[in-house]
Amino acid sequence: MINVSHLTKQYGPRSAIQDLSFEIHPGEIVGFLGPNGAGKSTTMKILTGFMPATSGSATVAGYEVFKNPIELKRNIGYLPETPPVYLDMVVRDYVEFAAKLHDVPKSKLKTAVDLALEKTSLTDVGKRIIGNLSKGYRQRVGLAQALVHNPKVLILDEPTVGLDPKQIIEIRELIKSLAGDHTVILSSHILPEVTATCQRIIVISKGKIVAQDTLDQISARLRKGLIYNMTIKNPSSDAAQSIQSISGVKSASLAGNKLIIELTQSGMDSRDQIVAAAVGKGLGVLEFSSEKVNLEDIFLQLTTEEKIS
Ligand SMILES: Nc1ncnc2c1ncn2[C@@H]1O[C@H](COP(=O)(O)OP(=O)(O)OP(=O)(O)O)[C@@H](O)[C@H]1O
Ligand SMILES: [Mg+2]
Repeated sequence: MINVSHLTKQYGPRSAIQDLSFEIHPGEIVGFLGPNGAGKSTTMKILTGFMPATSGSATVAGYEVFKNPIELKRNIGYLPETPPVYLDMVVRDYVEFAAKLHDVPKSKLKTAVDLALEKTSLTDVGKRIIGNLSKGYRQRVGLAQALVHNPKVLILDEPTVGLDPKQIIEIRELIKSLAGDHTVILSSHILPEVTATCQRIIVISKGKIVAQDTLDQISARLRKGLIYNMTIKNPSSDAAQSIQSISGVKSASLAGNKLIIELTQSGMDSRDQIVAAAVGKGLGVLEFSSEKVNLEDIFLQLTTEEKIS
């Protein structure tokens, strides 16, 4: 549904994105994650035909973005970083205007506008002037105009910026409900945002892709081994040693009443023996669990390291 090949954008001597290639399949929700200035908005502007690339190519919903910009725009919904809302227009009129721009047939106009307003919880403010709305409500208007023509592909640049927590949850649910029928790419510099909504993430840093995979796979790849914590009642001096000798255990160390056990990639099968050995040694097992991966750490690691091993 979205095919990007060797996309590069130079702003004068500075490159905003360098040699980006990725693919997004129909019905997927993919998160474009990266710190400020990574090149997320630049990529989205190119994919929506708002700006040409310096080199490379991209196809969205079957259209070459540089060759068929008009057809392309009919088939995609775009929420830019700064929503293009006309401040002196009434909400409903503006969403209707957006629907007309996208060639929604006259007979379906009312239903389409009603539905877009309902999906973005704007029905009650339909008659208000956009300029008088709060920031979060304007963001919703931006979302409504992106959705109103029921596009195959939605490109959303930081869709939940400025929304209150309740609305963030609602918009996330809305985006998730679009999966399957629509293909969605959304950007964020906030990790929990993409993990809450996306099936797959593309991590971009300094204009380059540093990882693209499901979150589970990215975290597994980043972990040097698999870490388990065992809380014990009787931390004896040889507790770590008795676990260390089990095959599949890379290392075991004792910190207070907690045994930190690192397994090799194939050591997952050894968990039974580890617990049995601990019980046999009378360590008094209170808890045995895998260490929760700190997502923020992963993000920082991905965007500050040159390469992931
Ligand atoms: N019109 C422009 N002229 C010159 N440089 C630009 C222009 N627009 C963006 N850039 C530069 O390109 C790089 C990528 O910017 P971009 O807006 O794509 O980042 P972003 O990932 O969307 O960041 P943010 O999270 O802050 O929105 C930045 O270094 C930025 O300074
Ligand atoms: Mg941006």
